[in-house]
Amino acid sequence: MKPVKVGVLGLGTVGGGVVNVLTRNAKEISRRAGRKILVTHASARNLTQERICDTQGIELTTNSLDIINDPEIDIILELIGGTTLAKNLILQAIENGKHIVTANKALIALHGNEIFAKASEKGVMVLFEAAVAGGIPIIKAIREGLSGNQIEWLAGIINGTGNFILTEMRDKGRDFSEVLAEAQVLGYAEADPTFDVEGIDAGHKLAILASLAFGIPLQFEKVFTEGISNISRADVEYAEELGYRIKHLGIARKTEQGIELRVHPTLIPERRLIANVDGVMNAVLVQGDAVGPTLYYGAGAGAEPTASAVISDVVDVVRVLTGDPEHRVPHLAFQEDAISDIPVLTSEQIQTAYYLRLTAEDKPGVLAEVTRILSNHNISIEALIQKEPLEGKTVVPVIMLTQTTLEKEMNAAIIEIEALSTITGSISRIRLETLG
Ligand code: HSE
Repeated sequence: MKPVKVGVLGLGTVGGGVVNVLTRNAKEISRRAGRKILVTHASARNLTQERICDTQGIELTTNSLDIINDPEIDIILELIGGTTLAKNLILQAIENGKHIVTANKALIALHGNEIFAKASEKGVMVLFEAAVAGGIPIIKAIREGLSGNQIEWLAGIINGTGNFILTEMRDKGRDFSEVLAEAQVLGYAEADPTFDVEGIDAGHKLAILASLAFGIPLQFEKVFTEGISNISRADVEYAEELGYRIKHLGIARKTEQGIELRVHPTLIPERRLIANVDGVMNAVLVQGDAVGPTLYYGAGAGAEPTASAVISDVVDVVRVLTGDPEHRVPHLAFQEDAISDIPVLTSEQIQTAYYLRLTAEDKPGVLAEVTRILSNHNISIEALIQKEPLEGKTVVPVIMLTQTTLEKEMNAAIIEIEALSTITGSISRIRLETLG
């Protein structure tokens, strides 16, 4: 059979990795796909730049439209990132009847509803395995492997840069900005690294996973995000003392009231496997009603792990190129006419447990006042530790773990506690999940 022709938009870390892996594993990949896969064209901003891949035999251009408008090309790999140019190129390529493979999580999270609608209209596929958790086939697992389940919740370490920073801070006492700079050099971090540390990148990925898990439209704008830049060394140490690790988790949970979509630093019991996922590695824990908990682990970023995911999508497209579009796996796992309108909950409607650290005057009655406020808000205390006074000071750190409560009640309680004259400064609050 004729080889399938692929055009690659973007020859950076991911594009270069794709070309390398497709070349190195060509024989094994075509044994799986049933046809040879050839990268015939590629676009890049700068054609003279040094690259991680050999571009011999690939026609290079600075104009991606040359590739999109070439009738010989069957599949377009969008690996340039960003949401403006990438969106226009993808929509034009779909218009031209090309199948698309993209690693662009921001684009799918923000514009996926529109892109998939257009793709369905044109009878082409848009696949995006590399958009979440790099090399881990988590999209395929949720979309296909778990399709017999009602998915109850999922929780993931889905930003490698953030996990790398938290791990280095905990294990080596390294400084936040120094570790972030290293992640940028290693090519893990986003072009704008605040996307990594403020939870925006993880929010994009969570919106995608939730859509696949619950059959809801992509709704990134409703994801609650909190970053890791305020995590202090003291919180990391107290959490460890209590048997917990702090991880930056993306959590999606289906409740009777609606769907919780949230990204925030989270205390999780150190005995959980996912608590031991360190460095740039990613992991996603998915709870299905039939299968129970399942855990997916692997490299969340980097040239070849991401290439592995991109190529798996290319193989999927090649396998069904000539098939009937109606019998393909739906883009967002559920049939388009069966998408649910269950609401996404606001942050005040979230239910979770909490770790609280406050600095209190060391005198009788102070803790009684704090616990009275919590009790007035129906918040039950699970554990409470008062530490020695800080050297030369009359104040003591107090660490509390609460039982699950409504975020709205916790917000109100924190305002009242911080207003007490016996409490100094603001309260450090980190959400806690047992993931049981
Ligand atoms: N910046 C992302 C991360 C890259 O650190 O996980 C992979 O999506």
